[in-house]
Order: sequence, then C-alpha cells, then structure tokens
Amino acid sequence: MKTTRKITNDIYYIGASDRRLALFENLFPLENGVSYNSYFIDDKKTAVTDTVDRFVSDAFFENLEILLNGRALDYLIVHHMEPDHGANIGRLIEMYPDMKVVCSAKANQMITQFFNINLGDKAVIVKDGDKLELGRHTLNFVTAPMVHWPEVILSYDETDGILFSADAFGTFGAPDGGIFNDEIVIDEKWYGEARRYYSNIVGKYGMQVQAVLKKAAGLDIKVVAPLHGPVWRSNIGEFIAKYDLWSRYQPEEKGVLIAYASMYGNTEAAANALALALADRGITAQAVRDVSVTDTSELISLAWKYSHIVIASPTYNLGLHPKMEHFVTDMKALNLQNRTVAIIENGSWAPAVIKNVTEIMSSMKNITIMEEKISIKSALHDNAPIEAMADAIAQDINR
Ligand code: FEO
Repeated sequence: MKTTRKITNDIYYIGASDRRLALFENLFPLENGVSYNSYFIDDKKTAVTDTVDRFVSDAFFENLEILLNGRALDYLIVHHMEPDHGANIGRLIEMYPDMKVVCSAKANQMITQFFNINLGDKAVIVKDGDKLELGRHTLNFVTAPMVHWPEVILSYDETDGILFSADAFGTFGAPDGGIFNDEIVIDEKWYGEARRYYSNIVGKYGMQVQAVLKKAAGLDIKVVAPLHGPVWRSNIGEFIAKYDLWSRYQPEEKGVLIAYASMYGNTEAAANALALALADRGITAQAVRDVSVTDTSELISLAWKYSHIVIASPTYNLGLHPKMEHFVTDMKALNLQNRTVAIIENGSWAPAVIKNVTEIMSSMKNITIMEEKISIKSALHDNAPIEAMADAIAQDINR
C-alpha cells in the first residue's frame, strides 16, 4: 500500500510514523510519536534521500517500489547516518547494486562501520558547493558537521527551493496525515516538541547550528524538508528565528522555570509558595515542575524556553536529589548558557545543594547565580525569604 504524499510536482514524502515506540534513542519519551522522513525525487535520474528507522522499514520499501514503478534507483543521498535514518542503507545497497551513494567522506566511513560495506566507486563524496544533476532538479550540498553528528550534510534543490535539512528543523511528534506545517495547528504543543527535540538532541552544538544558518541565509528556501516532523512550506522565517534563538542559547521568553525535587513535600511547599509570590508580582510566564515526575527532556526544553531557572532540592547523600542532579548536569552537558539561576536548598542537618549547584554551574557560560538564596532546615515556616527571592526575580525580569 502506498503511503506517500507529494511535496512538489515530482518530489514525494516516503517516510513513516511510529506511534508505538516508547523512547526515542531508548531515552526520550514519545508521547506524540515520531516520524522518519525520507523523500523520493522522480526525475530523469531517480534519487531517495536517507532511509527510515528499522521499525518502519516495510512502509519505506513499499513506497519506494511503487514510486520507482520498475525503474532503477540511481542515487541514495545520505544526509545523516544515525540509524533512525540510516538503518536501511545496507539493504538498499544490496537491492540496487548499480545505485550510487552520495554522502560526505565521513558518512562513507560510517557506512563501512555500520554495515561492513566498502562502497568503493559507488560512493559519490560531496562537500560544500558540490552539485548533483538529476535532470530537472539540481541538488547543492552544504556540509553541516556536528549538527549533530560529524558526517551531516544538507542539500538544497535549486529547482523547487527545497532545503533537505537533515535533523535540523526536525521535531518529535507524528503528524496526523497532514505533513505540511500549514496542515497542522502549529501551537505550543508542536513548538514544544520542536524545542524538546532541538534542545536535547542538537542543543550542545549551537555554534555549529549558527554556522549552518549563516550558510543557508543566502538560499531562497521555499520548503524545509527535515528528517522528522512536519515539512515547512510557510512561516519558515518564524521557525528559523526560533532556531536562531535556541542555537545562541537565548531564552524565548522572560519567565521562570521552577524545577523542584521533594521527598516529603517541604521543598515542594517552598517551590509552590515562590510560584504564587511571582504570580503576585505579575510573573505568569512560569512552569513549575516536579523533577521526579517530569522527564528530564521536558525540563531541558523549558530551560531553553525561559530566562530564569529556580532549582529547589533537598540534600541527598551530601549532594543533590538524584533526579535534580540529572537535570542540572544535563543542562551543563548540553551547553546551556545565558540564564539566571536561583537556588533553594533543603537539608535537615548538612544542606549542600547551594554549594553543589554553584560548583556544577561555575563552568557553564554566562550563568548568573542570584544572591538571594534560600537554605531551608527541614521545613520553611516563614514566607519572608520566599518574598525576597520573588522580589529579586521579578525585578530582574522587569528591568
Ligand atoms: Fe534523527 Fe540524529 O537522527
């Protein structure tokens, strides 16, 4: 059965969605599923861009066979080798022995690493500025190292103005039939999934994303065709603007993420009191999250969104509550920058959260730890320190 859609007159979406997979990379929850996008170019020479994850291979091969309609497949263009897209490269090479594989030199190496296949003269190695003529379509290649693997390339079809953008501009979430952004209500759910995808998967490599945005700035992009999520054919500037902010580690919004860990409710009570005190001061752009029941990938996404982060945690084994430690060290691993952080610690006999968070964050770029810290001994019985912290955060946001 064919499950394809036309992107333009002779370019087809031949990807597939997975709504069964619980964890992407066996790590990130997929409440809304995920799609693996592959595209078929039906030209004088036939080409397919990337493949799909092994769990949805059948749909990919069936779509390809139907669209080829007995013709040979001339080119496989490998933008990215991660197995959620590259899983079927080996099988495709076996099925189409005359097919050329267009990829970076690094991807060529990785094909040998993953599949024990030496492409030899079947490999067409491309770098910045190289072109591939297919007939009506001409693809221009742009290298995008470390967005977010070293072998990544993008390609730009100068005929239809399509940027095949690899993981860039990808999102979690499986589209409901409509695969174009203008067929979907792109609300906070979709942008949230886009931010969660970006911050957790690509977030560490903001500088490399900035380099690619600069390279792409000169292109007349009419369609962005990523490897995950919707194909963008309108409001592209809005999405690029978000990528620009995210990759410069600038917050989308002046507001506060209050992330708390709490074993028996006392730290939670302080976090809730702070949230109410902030709202009293007009700061309603807030997310209050219990780190024990919120996946770290969602916390990371919210840390990317807001300008201020409050860490509220009990002391545990002379360090942070383990769930909080994961969140804080993940922010560091992903290179988050340019945020203001307030700390609430709790410790019945030897509080150590302020010291630990300060140490972890001391090597992060442009993280300001606020002077107004709160150290709770078991439980807070006085709102004054909360009010003082709320004053300081509100003033900082409103200045
Ligand atoms: Fe969607 Fe980096 O693979």
